[in-house]
Amino acid sequence: MYTQSFNVPDGPSPTPVKHDIKPVLTPEQQHVLDRAQMRFDEVIDADGKIEPKDWMPEAYRKTLVRQISQHAHSEIVGMLPEGNWISRAPSLKRKAILIAKVQDEGGHGLYLYSAAETLGTSRDQMLDALHTGRAKYSSIFNYPTLTWADVGVIGWLVDGAAIMNQIPLCRCSYGPYARAMVRICKEESFHQRQGFESLMVMMQGNAEQQAMVQDAVNRWWWKCLAMFGPPDADSTNSTQGMRWGIKRVSNDDLRQKFVDATVPQAKVLGVTLPDPDLKWNEARGHHDYGQIDWDEFWATVNGNGPCNKERLATRVKAHEDGQWVRDAAMAYARKQQQRQQQQQEAA
Ligand SMILES: [Fe+2]
Ligand SMILES: [Fe+2]
Repeated sequence: MYTQSFNVPDGPSPTPVKHDIKPVLTPEQQHVLDRAQMRFDEVIDADGKIEPKDWMPEAYRKTLVRQISQHAHSEIVGMLPEGNWISRAPSLKRKAILIAKVQDEGGHGLYLYSAAETLGTSRDQMLDALHTGRAKYSSIFNYPTLTWADVGVIGWLVDGAAIMNQIPLCRCSYGPYARAMVRICKEESFHQRQGFESLMVMMQGNAEQQAMVQDAVNRWWWKCLAMFGPPDADSTNSTQGMRWGIKRVSNDDLRQKFVDATVPQAKVLGVTLPDPDLKWNEARGHHDYGQIDWDEFWATVNGNGPCNKERLATRVKAHEDGQWVRDAAMAYARKQQQRQQQQQEAA
């Protein structure tokens, strides 16, 4: 996991933003800028890739930095709700699978921070924005994992929703982001399947285990639908993202694809999706579904979900506890550099 599936503006910056004073360009400079913009538009229109050294409009760069860093933050904060269960996994096999999955999520964060760094931001800046609460991450991780079944449901539904959203990102117009997503999507597919398989085993168990799975599905279903973001009619950012080839499929279309794909899986599993309005619509060729509680969703995005404070505090503590590792790595790098210099001088 996981992108936020849509763009949320970050909180206000601590340093006051200088109001854009447009530089006065000479006719030659304006001509160079127009040519660069034209080339950029041609690449986008031809469905090509923009690479780090290519000229790009400032708004395109900023949108990508925000989206990729939110995505990276979501990956590493996403390690926390499931990481809670590593020490309590019911068997050695489940523990090994869960450790591998949580580690994958850490790796996804690393590829994505690296992709964002090619746009001229630094890892320190991004982490600082996360740790001071300015940057957002997927609000799905601000809910608690109450039972072992939650771990299976996160794999099946949360990673499943993430895949729906992330497959189109493999075709994103920004090269480093698109390439990072190819590997991430392969790993997410394993996450989804291990979740489903784990639930399948529980559903073949006793009545108590089955009830535990149903309870977890009831608590996560609506939150997963909200992961795709507000309805298209309310998504002002989407049009520009589509024009730039960053966003390829609208929030509502992705949500519909997810519902249509999940209903038959729920049937195989033997669980009920908690929506009385969920039914096949022959005329549309899709499932209809009920109303999402957007007030609850926005309250969580804006910091008032059940685990927002706990997640952020855990993340900050992990970062601080790891300071000695970064210090040691930097000291080692400095020593190596000194040694190299001495060798060069001696030669
Ligand atoms: Fe995942
Ligand atoms: Fe991931």
